[in-house]
Amino acid sequence: MSVNVLFVCLGNICRSPTAHAVFQHLVETRGFSDAVRVDSAGTGDWHIGLPPDTRASASAALRGYDLTPLRARQVEPGDFRAFDYILAMDAQNLRNLRALLPADFGGELRLFMHYATGVDEREVPDPYYGGENDFDRVLDLVENAAQGLLDTLVVRHGLRAQSR
Ligand code: 4NP
Repeated sequence: MSVNVLFVCLGNICRSPTAHAVFQHLVETRGFSDAVRVDSAGTGDWHIGLPPDTRASASAALRGYDLTPLRARQVEPGDFRAFDYILAMDAQNLRNLRALLPADFGGELRLFMHYATGVDEREVPDPYYGGENDFDRVLDLVENAAQGLLDTLVVRHGLRAQSR
């Protein structure tokens, strides 16, 4: 049985695809591909079916992450059954998710930045109307929280790395 993790932002073209690719890469490099399944979605519907924002893809590519195969989708009711961890990029996304939350959700819904260490930010700021620095900052925060998240999952779920 895998641990299923869903990253959620507004459009699913900047922050959550970045988290998706960064966390997937970390899961693979640390040998947990069979134990952890990763996906991302947006609370909004404007960008459904579209690839990530080219600025997000370009910034991520400079650090070795490939966002280009990802396509935006909207959060759907089945996600609350399919995912054990639903992690929001900011407080507005979290409020929007709570409004959709079924009473029988058995997983964890919270801010992704809960898992970051050594920084004061509690949210991953929306870079959509920003510049290159804002996309770099998203990557810094996402890389930080991704490490903390995987460390937590390994301990909490007793995950064992596959030897490669
Ligand atoms: P994301 O960024 O939520 O990180 O994917 C945004 C993408 C699109 C818009 C806002 C934020 N928008 O207003 O279209």
